[in-house]
Amino acid sequence: MKKVNLFITFVTLFSLLSCQKENKLIKVESPDKAIAVNLFLSKDGQFGYEINYKNSKVIDTSFLGFDFVDAPSLKKYFKILKTTRLTSNTTWKMPWGEQDSVKNNYNELKVNLQEAKIPNRKINVVFRVFNNGIGFRYEFPKQEGFEVAKIKEENTEFNLTGDHKVWWIPGDWDSYEHLYNTTKVSKINAIIKRHHPNLNSSYIPDNAVNTPVTMKTAKGLYLSFHEAALIDYAGMTLKVDTTNFKLKSNLVGSDLTKYKVKRKLPFNTPWRTIQIADKAGDLIASKMILNLNDPNKIGDVSWFKPMKYVGIWWEMHLGISTWDYESTQDMNTFTKVKKKKGHHGATTQNAKRYIDFAAKNNLHGILVEGWNTGWKHWIGFPDREGVFDFITPYPDYNLKEVVRYGKSKGVQLIMHNETSAAPRTYEKQMDTAYALYKSLDLHTIKSGYVGPIIPKGEHHHGQWMVNHYNNAVIKAAKYQLAIDTHEPIKATGMRRTYPNWVSREGLRGQEFNAWSVEGGNGPEHTTIVPFTRMLAGPIDFTPGIFNLKLNPYKPNNQVETTLAKQLALYVVIYSPIQMAADLPQNYEGNPAFQFIRDVGVDWQKTEILNGEIGDFVTIARQERKTGNWFLGSITDENKRDIKINFDFLEPNTNYIATVYEDGKNADWKNNPTAVSIRKITLDNTAKLTLHLAPGGGTAISIIKK
Ligand code: NOJ
Ligand code: CA
Repeated sequence: MKKVNLFITFVTLFSLLSCQKENKLIKVESPDKAIAVNLFLSKDGQFGYEINYKNSKVIDTSFLGFDFVDAPSLKKYFKILKTTRLTSNTTWKMPWGEQDSVKNNYNELKVNLQEAKIPNRKINVVFRVFNNGIGFRYEFPKQEGFEVAKIKEENTEFNLTGDHKVWWIPGDWDSYEHLYNTTKVSKINAIIKRHHPNLNSSYIPDNAVNTPVTMKTAKGLYLSFHEAALIDYAGMTLKVDTTNFKLKSNLVGSDLTKYKVKRKLPFNTPWRTIQIADKAGDLIASKMILNLNDPNKIGDVSWFKPMKYVGIWWEMHLGISTWDYESTQDMNTFTKVKKKKGHHGATTQNAKRYIDFAAKNNLHGILVEGWNTGWKHWIGFPDREGVFDFITPYPDYNLKEVVRYGKSKGVQLIMHNETSAAPRTYEKQMDTAYALYKSLDLHTIKSGYVGPIIPKGEHHHGQWMVNHYNNAVIKAAKYQLAIDTHEPIKATGMRRTYPNWVSREGLRGQEFNAWSVEGGNGPEHTTIVPFTRMLAGPIDFTPGIFNLKLNPYKPNNQVETTLAKQLALYVVIYSPIQMAADLPQNYEGNPAFQFIRDVGVDWQKTEILNGEIGDFVTIARQERKTGNWFLGSITDENKRDIKINFDFLEPNTNYIATVYEDGKNADWKNNPTAVSIRKITLDNTAKLTLHLAPGGGTAISIIKK
């Protein structure tokens, strides 16, 4: 399967060309030659780059460099010692994913730089140019007199060529759970979002944005900026110069240290990535970020099976039951605790009810939150160290019995580890807890990091936490456990290296619709997410709410989509674990639930059929096991007709398609549950016009006859 073609084309030595301004030294192109990166040294020896796409500039002269806490900046007086080129064209298999295998084809250029003045430090910059974007990273090679780098700031510039339209969330150091803003670069104001009430702490020190951040140029070109392989380093936000349309890396820091990153040499930074696409949908199809990560380091992961799951979960978010055994928290304020016994959600009996429901409906997982001791003292408590226990169940929950019962019905328990952002408490118990889960033959954990990090001063996205998140996943692999992280560090394609990092939150998910005091996510949100957050990796969004008005539990809240759109999200938003998030009683007897029973979670192929950011998107995916196809199409607040050409289906094959569409007069606000279902036969010559209601969608299962 593996076709490796790796060769070094040449190695050249250059001498310092310090007297010329922006002297074009070196060019590296994508395999199809559409993207060209020019690298050069400025007059004073600054190293820079610019990018052309199809002969027009997409990134203008941008410089690179580092500031340290205890050493002079590393950014000038460079000479080029050596350049090395390499071409790679390989294919690798995804153990689970959006497609069966991934092509990894790029041209690489590595530039070895050295300061021509004392302290004569060395640094290498490696560029990889793919047909749909570029990645570059810094290598700090082993060298005398420079043993440890204490990085105060990384100064990687991305100099834009105009006042592009941007879909952005603020550069929050603790949370990605913001609604997207759509503005020109010149109008980005992240600081204004500083105070927003949600489950996480929130810290936005600069006018910066989090990544992936996606843009559209006046000429209609799409760009998205992110990073790949975030390992032992701080997460990168991008500081925005609204006057000159320039972005600059702004690493997440810690209040406890003067540096933002501390590393022993030699080490490599994460890759800085720029996706470039003519069509918005091509951003989603790109696997560049995965390709920039190392191959699988944990071997066979067939013990993890992609699955749909139910959970003792939404009932807590609706305030019907509680996580805690003894008391309930007001879900609107979180901090107010009122005594109210007898509403504990995670009881053996309740878990069995969900297991019975899952077993009947082709759902193979059950998440149980609030099963373990410690929930009395989580949100809103400054001292959460040593509180949560990841081994001990509450007295009304028989862990072993729930596992046994589930197993007898083909339903696996997903363990829940809410850390309440006290990672040291979690780390202390990790081995014991993971060993227990392994002994019960369980393979999935949902973890969570709600609240400000303890110790105070560390942030969710800083180097210290990056290491915590990564180490948890590496340790979990040793116990054959997969992790779905909530309040996570952003995905940077590490699922290629550690395919037990199966999913994560890291966005404003469905739960906000249940209790957000700012209102719901709005009908536009999920038409932006596939082109922004989803470029980073799988999302545990928890779709499938049928009782959209949340009656009678949350009269002031509502899920701001139609029911058909909830179905379409199973295809549009990718994750190898997908929740059927609503209460079982809201599914019982509803024929639309058949789509959730049928829809796949592991894919052979993915086709992005159309899409415009913030307006609509249609995705079709072919299930690995069966070869059946599933299609999801969603729109924002506007109703829309979408033409579908089914030429992606196998030729000369007949399919029965069940179309779940917005019913007559459906709309997200006043009539969200109107759905109509029809069956048609299809082959690859078929064309169909889908009618999407305001805030609506269409889901289609396409089953071989
Ligand atoms: C936040 C998570 O996103 C949510 O899914 C979970 O129910 C709560 N934390 C409690 O852990
Ligand atoms: Ca969350």
